[in-house]
Amino acid sequence: MCGIVAYIGNREAYPIIIKGLQRLEYRGYDSAGVALINKAGKLNVYKRKGKVSDLLDFVKDEDTSGSIGIGHTRWATHGEPNDVNSHPHYSQTKDLVMIHNGIIENYAAIKEGLTKRGHTFLSDTDTEVLIHLIEEIQTHENMKLGHAVQAALKQVNGAYAIVILDKNDTNTLVAAKKGSPMVIGIGKDDFFIASDATPIIEYTKNVVYLEDEEVAILRRGQELKIRNLKDKVITPYIQELTLEIESIEKGGYDHFMLKEIYEQPRSVLDSMRGRLRAYEGDIKMGGIVDHEKKFEKAKRIIFIACGTSWHAGLVAEYLFEEFARVPVEVEYASEFRYRNPVIYEDDIVIAISQSGETADTLAAIELAKSKGATVLGVCNVVGSSIARATQGGSYTHAGPEIGVASTKAFTAQVTVLTLMALHMAKVRGTLSETRFRQLCYEMEAIPSKIEEVLKLNDQLREIAFIYKDTANALYLGRGVSFPVALEGALKLKEISYIHAEGYPAAEMKHGPIALIDEEMPVFVIATKGANYEKVVSNIQEVKARKGKIIAVVTSGDTEVKAIADHVIEIPETDEFLVPLISVVPFQLLSYHIAVMRGCNVDQPRNLAKSVTVE
Ligand code: M6R
Repeated sequence: MCGIVAYIGNREAYPIIIKGLQRLEYRGYDSAGVALINKAGKLNVYKRKGKVSDLLDFVKDEDTSGSIGIGHTRWATHGEPNDVNSHPHYSQTKDLVMIHNGIIENYAAIKEGLTKRGHTFLSDTDTEVLIHLIEEIQTHENMKLGHAVQAALKQVNGAYAIVILDKNDTNTLVAAKKGSPMVIGIGKDDFFIASDATPIIEYTKNVVYLEDEEVAILRRGQELKIRNLKDKVITPYIQELTLEIESIEKGGYDHFMLKEIYEQPRSVLDSMRGRLRAYEGDIKMGGIVDHEKKFEKAKRIIFIACGTSWHAGLVAEYLFEEFARVPVEVEYASEFRYRNPVIYEDDIVIAISQSGETADTLAAIELAKSKGATVLGVCNVVGSSIARATQGGSYTHAGPEIGVASTKAFTAQVTVLTLMALHMAKVRGTLSETRFRQLCYEMEAIPSKIEEVLKLNDQLREIAFIYKDTANALYLGRGVSFPVALEGALKLKEISYIHAEGYPAAEMKHGPIALIDEEMPVFVIATKGANYEKVVSNIQEVKARKGKIIAVVTSGDTEVKAIADHVIEIPETDEFLVPLISVVPFQLLSYHIAVMRGCNVDQPRNLAKSVTVE
């Protein structure tokens, strides 16, 4: 994962880099480091285990001047998180320093060769090996740095977004990428480099997304030059960012996660804007219009995703099967890519990803494309690798999600997938006009219903207080609420470190029921619908074993209220749309429990927002 930032121009580089690293900390926060060249040409490198704030303390009395520099925030892969393994890394002579996001898979073999040729390494990282290799080629072949980078990168397998600073050339940065993201901001007299656009937007809206196997040469006061590994000159394609600075700040909330939970009425609306036309009984989705014939004829839909996005895919399975009567499979991208899956040309593969950078999902997309399937994307980050690798699809338009725990991205994904399912149903003629319109109107009402659920915050805080010290928790749901149970459990475990399991409610009696005693909180989605009575029976089974029931029910419910320890009443909606509302109390409960336990809600331990390693 890792976040990278670099600057070259006329301003002081350090404040720009530090602010950028703070914005990219969601990508990893095991260590942070910077390298800067001051006016006198001295290269200063500072790096530290811990967060960017630890680095700031460490360098407060040091020379951080200079108008060229690189910075890194790390999510450890090769080598434990410590000062030495932190980036930037030096070459053998210490003339070059490099930051890297990604993994060099064949680094061990390269390191062995370099060691035999007299290189010595300070760290355990693959990054240090690559910068040694680049310098060796530069010296032996008497090449310019850019050409040496091209030659070295031809020898490596894996993923990289790298930026190199050369002590002997204070007017140039060299950058390259493959498989890991990189954006170059084009200022008036300066350049910015970052893993995503958030460190750049306050300086310039003009950006170039570097493509795989491209090497960029950024010279002070000159135009950006790009060549690929075959030395072909590439004309930079400059795009204008639409991102606004307010959207990446906390806006008065204590945490990004809380802000993002509260943004959901708006983000769900934004996901539907211009697409859902309830009054006209129509859904328009520009990104799939070219694939309408495929939707009509498709024999199967396969969703590929990871984590929360995979849960959104599971919700979609119920919707596409119910509305569009098409067989659906939902695959973990990491499993799919390493199986030998049977994929047909009339399959539609839909990759779901908030970041659009998840390495396993990207690899699964390439596999599906190579088998001739139509591959579409449902991504949040505009211009991300997955958005570019897919043949069409729809953005979720949820706005930047910075908290590591996904919240508004999930509801936005489910919204877009619901619209897709309804659209497909229309194309295939599998829903009556009345039912289609009824669902469209229900969708239109979802943002205001989420608004209602957010008003339960005080009640949810009280419930959180009661269960904050539990060691385990069970989440149960049936039908379309089963994925919500999985998502509720994931939210709790990832930010509060409480062990939690999500289960289909009826599966409980095949094993997990053994865990239930008076200490065990069991969170159940028991909203009105076809499975309601069955879920009530499951609740009875838990109560018979003295488990504590916290039930999410439809407003006005009395049956569950009579037996549950706590009920959380949410507004009524169509039973297939319930996940869009019922997930919200689980997000808030997890948030409050994590805060009460003193956990770092936005940056939980061991995690990172974009998982760009497999
Ligand atoms: O960016 P993606 O949606 O592809 O990320 C997939 C997962 O890493 C992500 O959903 C993860 O599970 C969440 N942080 C959980 O809240």
